[in-house]
Amino acid sequence: MSLSASILAARQLLQEAAHIAVLSGAGISAESGVPTFRDAQTGLWAHLRPEDLATEDAFRRHPQRVWDWYAERRASLAEVQPNAGHRALAEFQHRHPGRLTVITQNVDGLHQRAGSTGVLALHGSLAADRWLDPCPAGRGPTACDVARADPGRPPRCAQCGNWVRPAVVWFGELLPEDQLRQAEQAASRCDAMLVVGTAGAVYPAAGLAHQARAAGARLIVVNPHPSELDGLAQLRLVGGAAQVLPPLLDF
Ligand code: OAD
Repeated sequence: MSLSASILAARQLLQEAAHIAVLSGAGISAESGVPTFRDAQTGLWAHLRPEDLATEDAFRRHPQRVWDWYAERRASLAEVQPNAGHRALAEFQHRHPGRLTVITQNVDGLHQRAGSTGVLALHGSLAADRWLDPCPAGRGPTACDVARADPGRPPRCAQCGNWVRPAVVWFGELLPEDQLRQAEQAASRCDAMLVVGTAGAVYPAAGLAHQARAAGARLIVVNPHPSELDGLAQLRLVGGAAQVLPPLLDF
């Protein structure tokens, strides 16, 4: 089937769906200029090892190196914009309130900047910080404001030396409980799930696609390359998100 024929078939499937869940990954931001993780050559993990940069252990061993890597990624986000794929999802949500839930593994905030509401950010946010450890004085996470930490790379608490870290989920860490619970609910009650721009290699996020399928949802995969979730898909739309999502969601 040609891409345009598959888009038409998928569009019909979505028109019949009372509730749609979207599971997005780094690929949806690729056309905004944000590097993915696992694409050969251009993916971040093609040249860097996650265990050197995206674990708590790496941060404790090399706080400045890890902080600086995230600071660079933050700075580069200031240069990019949401693309037509992010916008198509946000505009659909505005035309059909309550019908589409965005679940994302991305920490880049581009869905939110495009105007999507209620985004379930499973892996946290690159724009936010939090304390590395619980406050030793027991003041709790809200009593101590990370924004008032002593500047440094990374910033530290003037009283106890606690480090500030990016509020993203690192390998080996639990996902934010509330976001994951809501994502599981959306996955199990949706009639159709759009899986956009993810290799489907990281769990529990990828498990949401299995959960949706097991609950009877139709799955549509949008990806220019094969992914680990292709076997679950009713339809595969082989193309970039910014090309495929606007005509797919234009109703
Ligand atoms: P990956 O880098 O693993 O996968 C990106 C996917 O996007 C690949 O399947 C590409 O083929 C696809 N892709 C590339 N360009 C695209 C385009 N223009 N339109 C649509 N798809 C495109 O990224 P994720 O699956 O998001 O976790 O990775 C999941 C998690 O692994 C990330 O959230 C991150 C990473 O380690 C943490 O940091 C915890």
